Amino acid sequence: MKFFIDTANLDQIREAQDLGVLDGVTTNPSLMAKEGITGRNNILKHYVDICNIVDGDVSAEVIATDFDGIVKEGEQLADLHEQIVVKVPMIKEGIKAIKYFTDKGIRTNCTLVFSVGQALLAAKAGATYVSPFIGRLDDISTDGLNLIAEIRLIYDNYGFETEILAASVRHTMHVLECAKIGADVMTGPLSSIEGLLKHPLTDIGLEKFLADYKKGN
Ligand code: G3P
Repeated sequence: MKFFIDTANLDQIREAQDLGVLDGVTTNPSLMAKEGITGRNNILKHYVDICNIVDGDVSAEVIATDFDGIVKEGEQLADLHEQIVVKVPMIKEGIKAIKYFTDKGIRTNCTLVFSVGQALLAAKAGATYVSPFIGRLDDISTDGLNLIAEIRLIYDNYGFETEILAASVRHTMHVLECAKIGADVMTGPLSSIEGLLKHPLTDIGLEKFLADYKKGN
């Protein structure tokens, strides 16, 4: 299972990279705005900065919603760095653009996916990643994890190679449940990854080991 961090904050990205288990980064226009990154040139530079910190894939989202605009922006993003994956919204023009990018060998992440039908279309168009937003489904009392399970079933039925990128992960249990279901990737805040470290018996056990060592030395 790949671990991506869902942020445009360079300090958080560096911290996750230093942990040694980071496989990539996802961003979106809201996350960019949260870091105060505005203006096309600054946004493009920020993507390159992120690529220079991490070893893996970095999703960079298009703003255009028409085919020509998505293609123009996506090609510009893909040219920025070999680690860039073009993030395209799940709309009709987006699906056309994903097919276009697939044929040109440009990798894509189909975002804002909330149903199995949308995930099936993304795979048919050849998306590299599909991003179902599990947290936002949970927010409206719909089981986000169930969507991951249904997509896993359908992709396995037909051997689709599109990787299931569980997005809008909010906490550590989401990570674990996605791992059980067989999501290929999860993207969430650093806290959702660091939560995997925690167990009180580890803390108690370590404290005792260190205390016993001190007694004899
Ligand atoms: O990767 C998708 C993500 O950025 C959305 O997360 O927490 O805003 O629903 P959230």
